[in-house]
Amino acid sequence: MKRTHIHFALCSNRKWLIPLLFVSTISLIVVLIASPAQDKSNRTANSSEDSDANSGGRPPEPPRLAYLLSGTGGDGRRMRRLLLAAYHPRNYYLLHLDLGASDSERLELAKYVKSEAVVREFRNVMVVGKPGPVTYKGPTMIARTLHAVAILLKKAKWDWFINLGASDYPLVPQDDLLHIFSYLPRDLNFLDHTSDIGWKEVQRARPIIIDPGLYHSKKSGVFWAKEKRSLPSSFKLFMGSEWVVLTRSFLEFSVWGWDNLPRTLLMYYTNFMESPDGYFHTLVCNHKDYQNTTVNHDLRYIRWDNPPKEHPINLTLEHFDDMVQSGAPFAHTFAKDDPVLDKIDQDLLKRSDGRFTPGGWCTGNSVLDKDPCVVHGSSYAVKPSVVRNMDGMMMAQAMGGDVAVGKGGEGAGSGGVGDGREQRWRHWWSGGTGVGLLKKL
Ligand SMILES: *[C@@H]1O[C@H](CO)[C@@H](O)[C@H](O)[C@H]1NC(C)=O
Ligand SMILES: *[C@@H]1O[C@H](CO)[C@@H](O)[C@H](O)[C@H]1NC(C)=O
Ligand SMILES: *[C@@H]1O[C@H](CO)[C@@H](O)[C@H](O)[C@H]1NC(C)=O
Repeated sequence: MKRTHIHFALCSNRKWLIPLLFVSTISLIVVLIASPAQDKSNRTANSSEDSDANSGGRPPEPPRLAYLLSGTGGDGRRMRRLLLAAYHPRNYYLLHLDLGASDSERLELAKYVKSEAVVREFRNVMVVGKPGPVTYKGPTMIARTLHAVAILLKKAKWDWFINLGASDYPLVPQDDLLHIFSYLPRDLNFLDHTSDIGWKEVQRARPIIIDPGLYHSKKSGVFWAKEKRSLPSSFKLFMGSEWVVLTRSFLEFSVWGWDNLPRTLLMYYTNFMESPDGYFHTLVCNHKDYQNTTVNHDLRYIRWDNPPKEHPINLTLEHFDDMVQSGAPFAHTFAKDDPVLDKIDQDLLKRSDGRFTPGGWCTGNSVLDKDPCVVHGSSYAVKPSVVRNMDGMMMAQAMGGDVAVGKGGEGAGSGGVGDGREQRWRHWWSGGTGVGLLKKL
């Protein structure tokens, strides 16, 4: 539950390259990249993207991201702000206000989307018109996500899927995120996960729950059956955070179902408490084609009470510096209109009220008190906020590949506090002198 530190990747026990998105104090970036060493060298040998990077040539083509922004009744205005903050013409956005919101609120959101000339032109924002009910922590949350993924797969070409709630917010401009992601192997799935489920075994894995959202159209809570079930033996359970960054390939595998595992697990998770925290995690870790593609981080900044309560802490100005230091591209969660959001807009996104986060695609003149993004150039133009060529972009083979994966696939992160590797890793992550260990990709 508590996610204040980084765990090792836990799905497999191969050694991993862990390049990293380095976030300096002035700018941002570090995310971890993990990728199997051999795969990596095979891939780089012939990849034009990487050889460009190596030769210091043009940066590789930025990816496209597909976002699901989800909310419920009363979230309409927050969703608009989130959309403006996270918008980029390269990306796709699906807005989902669940049945807790009224039809008129959904309609208003759809009207707003239509009214934005930029969005109308790039045609990259969609609003779900007829959503189903979504029960908090119930399987209908997975149903909503899979539905959104299916729509996005059908409508557009993109590389990664990212889910955000209405109470989430980006900490970096999309230009920066796209820039960094352009250097990542396109097969990496980011999700915080562990198989060391501890107390959750009793509270999550054994109980059987029913989500009335599956057969009633009114929103209510899940209810519990009296019987308990045993732990599964034909697959291994993994749990983590519901916030993910997943590849198109893995999601095609999940949605299209040519292999039966995604479907079997979906049925299993129908009666699982907090299934959104486990479905993709268990799926990715139990299939040979995907278990080596995970990076054990959700790319979110999340703070928990100690001991953790049901919900993470609402982030405020007090957490601002720490958020920036973390290097995470997104943060979860904020109270509505918290002043820290204004500070993020001002200091990190350079966004003014009611406008898009500016980027290389905005070519208008902001002096005239107009949104410079109303006049725009190519959506391919990605201009990171800090000049960050490959010399500045520190990616690395962490500790010569010695940041190996968990002990026999078990939860190394939680048990390994005194572990030298973990300490080195944390030091490295935090951007201290570990930077010296980094070398160019
Ligand atoms: C994934 O890693 C495991 C453990 O090192 C290895 O045995 C397996 O062959 C790898 N799978 C793929 C598809 O590369
Ligand atoms: C990769 O590059 C090497 C050396 O440049 C070449 O010999 C090899 O045929 C290439 N492989 C593929 C699959 O293009
Ligand atoms: C966070 O803020 C929301 C209001 O936006 C409030 O309903 C919720 O209880 C707060 N959560 C915590 C953990 O304080």
